[in-house]
Formats: sequence, C-alpha cells, structure tokens
Amino acid sequence: MTETIKGVIFDLDGVLVDTACLHYKAWKKMADKLNIPFSEKDNEKLKGVSRKDSLDIILNHSGRNFSETEKHQLLLDKNNDYLKLVNQLNENDVLGGVVKLIEELKYKGIRISLGSASKNARLILELTGLYHYFDYIVDGNMVVKAKPAPDVFLTGAELLGLSPSECLVFEDAQSGVQAALTAGMKVVGVGEQALLHQATAVVPDLIGFNIEDYIK
Ligand code: BG6
Ligand code: MG
Repeated sequence: MTETIKGVIFDLDGVLVDTACLHYKAWKKMADKLNIPFSEKDNEKLKGVSRKDSLDIILNHSGRNFSETEKHQLLLDKNNDYLKLVNQLNENDVLGGVVKLIEELKYKGIRISLGSASKNARLILELTGLYHYFDYIVDGNMVVKAKPAPDVFLTGAELLGLSPSECLVFEDAQSGVQAALTAGMKVVGVGEQALLHQATAVVPDLIGFNIEDYIK
C-alpha cells in the first residue's frame, strides 16, 4: 500500500446490509406478473445496477416493448413492494463485522461516507441504526451517472476532503469495484474472489477485517 488511508467509502446493499434478497422478491413479483423468466441467478447480475437499468435488463427478456409510462409505473410498483420489505429491517440485519469495523474507523479518526446507487439508502441506514456513523451520504438521488461510472465515489472523496488515493472503498458488486478503480481508489471486494478479482483485496465478509493493513 503506497498511501495511507484517511477515509473509507462503503457501498450499502450487500456490504452493510443484505438487501439483495428483498430486491429479488420485489423484482420477481413484477416479472411473474409479466410472465418474464427471472431467477435468483439473474438477480445476481443486478447487484450494483441502478433501479432503472435493472428494469431495462429484466424487460429485455420479455421480447416486447414497454412505453415510458408503463416503465415508470413498473418502477413505482417495484419500489413500493421493496419498501414494504425494507420497512421490516432492523439492527439485527446489519451484516457481520460491520459495526465493529465502523466503530474502529471512528475511533481512529477515519471519516466515512456512503457510496450507494440506492435511492432508499437513508431509510435503510436509519432502520438498521447505522445512519449516525456516517459523515456523508452519497446515494442514487445525488449522482446521475451510475456505477461503473466513478462519480458516486469521487463525490464521496470530495465531501471527505480527500484525494482518491487516500480513500478505501468496500464493494460487493463488479460494477462497484470497477467504479472505485476508475476513481483511482483502493477497493476491498466483499464476496467471491472469482467475481471480484480485480479488487485490491477480496474478503468473504467483514468479520475480523483488519484495517491496520491500510492505515500504516
Ligand atoms: C444497489 C443495488 O445498491 O442499488 C441494486 O445493488 C439496486 O440492486 C440499486 O437496483 C438501486 O436501489 P434502489 O433502492 O434505489 O432501488
Ligand atoms: Mg452493493
């Protein structure tokens, strides 16, 4: 590691809270109604992908065209179904190792930002008791160009007052790893090595993560 890390940017879905299964249930309900095949494996490909782009990917498998009005309604319905599930989240849904790592970062004076594609990020952080830890929140409402564009992370670094090389990103999606690398940041992939091999390092989860390796 050439430069010491002074700020950390966390992705939300799949890194701090496991919401992929909730997205899946809501997309599956929509796909079933439209008779579009959609499996958990298909859902994997939507990790890190914006809501609108996810809809387009699913509808591409339908063989028919949808008007902008239809798509708008589908997005509203999907998000309402997703929010019904999200509203059941609580502190027990935070993934293993997350709170310990964040508390260690705070103790060491390392500032943290969120860097998420989700427009529901603030609500999820509030429900799971993580909101108060964050110095800044960059979410899908703030950034136009979605991952793999680097914008979400560059905005985070700017708010933290740091250069990209002073920031470390935690990401579970290939598009997010790409976005962090394009931003010029080190990135820890959280998940499968085979999928996230481009990352600076890959861990299966954040349990026991050793930040000391990055801040010496
Ligand atoms: C990402 C998720 O974090 O946010 C995607 O990995 C999701 O699956 C995207 O589509 C947008 O989320 P939301 O909450 O705005 O629909
Ligand atoms: Mg994610």
